[in-house]
Amino acid sequence: MHHLRSEIRAAGAAVGPEANKGIGFPRLYDLLVLMLTRGRDRAYREALLDLAGLAPGFQLLDVGCGTGTQAISAWRRVQPGGSVVGVDVSEKMLAAARRKANRAGLEIPFHHADAASLPFENGRFDVVTFTTVLHMVPEARRGFCLREAARVLPPGGRLLLIDYAGPVSERGHMSAKHGLHGQFDLHRLREPLAGAGFERIEDGPLNWLSLHYLRAVRS
Ligand SMILES: C[S@@+](CC[C@H](N)C(=O)[O-])C[C@H]1O[C@@H](n2cnc3c(N)ncnc32)[C@H](O)[C@@H]1O
Repeated sequence: MHHLRSEIRAAGAAVGPEANKGIGFPRLYDLLVLMLTRGRDRAYREALLDLAGLAPGFQLLDVGCGTGTQAISAWRRVQPGGSVVGVDVSEKMLAAARRKANRAGLEIPFHHADAASLPFENGRFDVVTFTTVLHMVPEARRGFCLREAARVLPPGGRLLLIDYAGPVSERGHMSAKHGLHGQFDLHRLREPLAGAGFERIEDGPLNWLSLHYLRAVRS
């Protein structure tokens, strides 16, 4: 573990500033998602959760949970008996997530943590999701995030990555082309995923925002 943390620090140093501080504008973020999904944020979330294959009793970790919308939708799917935990590097996003969960009367723990160093024991979750998070993580740190996801899953546990993929010229939705979104290609994570201990890797497009998914099972 100590060795892994030193490696993470080294990777951070190699890419300039340490891990990014995440997104600091939760209200605007929710508004943007609502606008980009044309008011159908709920349907967007349900489509993503269908891919996660959640079932009652499952333990889910949502990494880069943002304002918690997806974690809250997911919570309903894992009842009875399941639980959802969210982590994010942004205290502002986490505060919004906690407020939302409180309003919904749900006790969902939202922790401040970096995807490259998760504060959970090995094999703690059945499913780990990253929804539009990895494009924000510096390239040199992405492998650590995948290895951490593998560590907190047991053999047979599932990982779902949702992000931007493919040639920018083929991305129809404007949000998939700009800045970090445009520079990121989810397909390039196939090899690192296998290296991190995942198998049965499959991918495909989503009908939302020109996003794609990459799904894999912990070997
Ligand atoms: C585009 S938002 C997506 C939020 C949420 N998953 C959703 O679908 O609405 C990306 C989130 O990832 C968080 N983030 C970025 N880098 C992270 C890291 N290294 N570890 C954990 N969270 C991170 C940001 O703070 C932000 O809340």
